[in-house]
Amino acid sequence: MGFDTTRTAYDRYMGRYSDRLAVSFLSFTGGEPGQRALDVGCGPGALTQALATGLGATHVAAVDPSTRYVAACAARVPGADVRRAVAADLPWAGGRFDLVVSQLVLTFLPDPAVGLAEMLRVTRPGGTIAACTWDYAGGMTMLRTFWDAALDVDPGAPDETRSMRFTTEGELAGLWEGAGLADVRTRELAVSVTYSGFDDYWTPFTLGVGPGGAYAASLDTGRLTRLRGACFHRLGSPTGSFTLDARAVAVRGVSP
Ligand SMILES: C[S@@+](CC[C@H](N)C(=O)[O-])C[C@H]1O[C@@H](n2cnc3c(N)ncnc32)[C@H](O)[C@@H]1O
Repeated sequence: MGFDTTRTAYDRYMGRYSDRLAVSFLSFTGGEPGQRALDVGCGPGALTQALATGLGATHVAAVDPSTRYVAACAARVPGADVRRAVAADLPWAGGRFDLVVSQLVLTFLPDPAVGLAEMLRVTRPGGTIAACTWDYAGGMTMLRTFWDAALDVDPGAPDETRSMRFTTEGELAGLWEGAGLADVRTRELAVSVTYSGFDDYWTPFTLGVGPGGAYAASLDTGRLTRLRGACFHRLGSPTGSFTLDARAVAVRGVSP
């Protein structure tokens, strides 16, 4: 899936979006000093770091199945309890956390309902569980452009944005309500990233991160060059810096 890279590679690809998204996502979820929080699917720690800023690192825990991301997150947020685990099997006792959050992860879980049930188990009654995912249908220009370009040159390209579920407010609310959470609310969250030029956009796709990076790594040099050209064309053949918008959808609910 492309989630076992260096933090540097991740940050160039997605982390620069995650850092910005974490701020607005946490303002949507709440969270107050003194509370204990868990970040599920922490990656190299964008959201974990934002949680630690608000709650104090010793009140923050995080998990990810990637050994390298766990190490990167632990180094980035000293004092936080960072462990290697999957969402479906969280290594904590029931009712341990006031706030359980997950940013850009739900769409990658083999069974999001199972992951959510496990998040619910480790949340105390009255605690909050929240998640956000990209609005892949049209709200994540960086990935939409890449996959549209990939389909231009390879109609069989495995467009991640078409196969993923839980990318709309309605789907997320349905999942949360189906799990028995109360006071379910959703919100759109918008961020934007400025690229210094086309190579700043393109090079991160060659670093093997995420489904886009994994696909690029599977191409021979000729196909990769054609894909690069198609991305350049779809971005309007930029000669200088440019800004891309991204929209996420977020959901939160209260544990019964
Ligand atoms: C797009 S990254 C998001 C990382 C981080 N939350 C952020 O906002 O930058 C998706 C993350 O989900 C993690 N992941 C994949 N499968 C998972 C699972 N079954 N349980 C928990 N995390 C998982 C990946 O290792 C990766 O770190």
